[in-house]
Amino acid sequence: MPWVVRDAVRDINRMVARRWQAIDPLLPDPSALPTGCGAPLVVNGDNGRLAGLGVCVHHHIPPDSLNQTWGAADRFTLVPRLAGHDVSAPADVLLAQWRDHLAGVGAARGLDSSATVVWPSQDITGVQALLRHGLQPLTVIAARLRPQVPNGPRFEPRGAYGVTIRSAGPADEEQVLDLELRLIRYDMHFGGPVWRQATPRLVRDEIRASLARRATWTWLAERAGRAVGLLVAQPPQETGWIAGMTSASPAAYLQTMFVDYAERGTGIGSALVRHLHAQLDAAAVGVTLLHHSQVNPLSAPFWYRMGYRPLWTSWEARPVGALR
Ligand SMILES: CC(C)(COP(=O)(O)OP(=O)(O)OC[C@H]1O[C@@H](n2cnc3c(N)ncnc32)[C@H](O)[C@@H]1OP(=O)(O)O)[C@@H](O)C(=O)NCCC(=O)NCCS
Repeated sequence: MPWVVRDAVRDINRMVARRWQAIDPLLPDPSALPTGCGAPLVVNGDNGRLAGLGVCVHHHIPPDSLNQTWGAADRFTLVPRLAGHDVSAPADVLLAQWRDHLAGVGAARGLDSSATVVWPSQDITGVQALLRHGLQPLTVIAARLRPQVPNGPRFEPRGAYGVTIRSAGPADEEQVLDLELRLIRYDMHFGGPVWRQATPRLVRDEIRASLARRATWTWLAERAGRAVGLLVAQPPQETGWIAGMTSASPAAYLQTMFVDYAERGTGIGSALVRHLHAQLDAAAVGVTLLHHSQVNPLSAPFWYRMGYRPLWTSWEARPVGALR
């Protein structure tokens, strides 16, 4: 990267860092821009000074990767860095440049493709521009901070009547798989996951490896010996892939949460989550992150009841051709 661009990136990052801190202290310092597929997209303000940069990152997810179940096969992500109080106008220009750039990329013409911008949830000034360019708010990364109660009463998990919570082990593979696949099918209603031919096999492989490795981070809720709820989390040593999305640390990640349809609304979900929170709080884990679908009518009210709040919103056009 030539020094002029390097200096520009540094200056913009400084301004963006100030802006993000003012908007939401849980946002991290903006990371160095990734390399991307070419020279950064550049936005100049009315005064001719640099108002923003953006980098487009391309990823092809192969069919033998479980990651292909979580979205399109060809993913194009714009990493924006926009300075200023109101970023609506520079966001508009940047998104138009990105759309034009993608129009010249072969893999972006396929139907199994997506264009994504991960945007701070509290940064409302860019929302109009995102909508105008055909992007939809699809998923949210929500965060829960460890409660700060010095010398206060210890947070005790609360159970659900007639339900036992226990760690899952290798013998629970079938039950965990069943609940996990039902969650994917449920989440597919909201345009996130895509059912692939290899999905059941790849989910099973992951569950098998995970139950063999760290049984205590998968919990089952059982009623009369039948698994009716599932919670899977990742401890801080496994969350390097997402921990940089927040200024708080260390970060745990809540990966899976599902309660059997007939058992919902009876306190099983909250019993599982409180069980996890008690463990995380006792271990001084600073923040817990999770993804939920923006339009899932069950998850947002539940998570916000459990102490989470939106941090990042992932805006997506799928396929890329839906970008305007
Ligand atoms: C989300 C889900 C796990 C919640 O589990 P649950 O066992 O039904 O939740 P609980 O009965 O423990 O409810 C906990 C609290 O959240 C509230 N709550 C739960 N779902 C709610 C909803 N849809 N709307 C409003 N409040 C809700 C409950 O009233 C309860 O509040 P209280 O503590 O004041 O009594 C469950 O609905 C589910 O499995 N949904 C399908 C899969 C899913 O959406 N998973 C999350 C993916 S990110």
